[in-house]
Amino acid sequence: MTRKLEGKIALISGSGRGIGRAIALKLAADGARIVVNDLDEAPAEETVAAIRDAGGEAVACPGSVTAPDFAERFVGTATQTYGGLDILVNNAGYTWDNVIQKMSDEQWYAMIDCHLTAPFRILRAAQPVIRALAKAETEAGRRIVRKVVNISSVAGLFGNAGQINYSAAKAGITGVTKTLAKEWGRLNVTVNCVAYGLIRTRLTGNSADQGTERIDGRDIKVGVNPDLLAAMERTIPLGRGGTPEEAAGAVYLFCIPESDYVSGETLLCSGGLTGI
Ligand SMILES: NC(=O)c1ccc[n+]([C@@H]2O[C@H](COP(=O)([O-])OP(=O)(O)OC[C@H]3O[C@@H](n4cnc5c(N)ncnc54)[C@H](O)[C@@H]3O)[C@@H](O)[C@H]2O)c1
Repeated sequence: MTRKLEGKIALISGSGRGIGRAIALKLAADGARIVVNDLDEAPAEETVAAIRDAGGEAVACPGSVTAPDFAERFVGTATQTYGGLDILVNNAGYTWDNVIQKMSDEQWYAMIDCHLTAPFRILRAAQPVIRALAKAETEAGRRIVRKVVNISSVAGLFGNAGQINYSAAKAGITGVTKTLAKEWGRLNVTVNCVAYGLIRTRLTGNSADQGTERIDGRDIKVGVNPDLLAAMERTIPLGRGGTPEEAAGAVYLFCIPESDYVSGETLLCSGGLTGI
């Protein structure tokens, strides 16, 4: 059977764990060569090893997406290793919750930096590469459709108490998506967004079991209160949280040729949940 993404070069931020990892494995299994990113080398290299073990191609580009030089390094890894860039998934992220009266500026900007400014910088760094490739392809009479998939959340679409920073950033990325779909249409790039409901990952695991994670020099509490999680799950029409593999399926839809004429859209991947 022909693989739909054979030879494509895909950059996926935050792909050392969770949904990003599942996206990396899914795209690699369909023939894409992957630039894997995560905060630390170990999870990034683990995903690279899993892809190679399955017969695929991947390279790691570890580091925080919020680092000022990250975007150039990420795009540079793709061009230097594989000679181009076809698919870009802005997935890296975490949550740092509080009600507005207890939320510091630091907490606010941490979410804006990770979920909004970092994707903006990565996309800005990718622009000259994509423009040059599209120009050369047009001159050669070829049209290759490239794909950007940004990751949002039901918190961004509908709001979520205790997540004003995260909700604002995840709403913002839908604006980035719509604007870039207009700017990059002439470069044959589709720009879409997937907004998740509840997906079972470390992000939504039991907070009592998981401790903290070191992100950008801060210790951030990981996970969600299990009672809150159970209550959320009861509101999902399919009756359960999704798996990382199911989450990856929604991103895959925007990466394959069948979606080449879909751009500027936000797809809910939420088990039928249409509000929170
Ligand atoms: N799990 C859900 O229910 C859910 C719901 C809505 C949206 N999302 C979004 O999906 C994306 C993936 O989340 P997940 O559930 O797979 O979480 P996860 O914690 O399992 O995986 C996220 C990965 O991103 C990495 N990461 C975090 N900050 C980073 C940074 N600054 N630079 C590089 N890597 C970084 C983490 O180390 C981790 O490996 C996030 O953008 C998240 O906001 C998840």
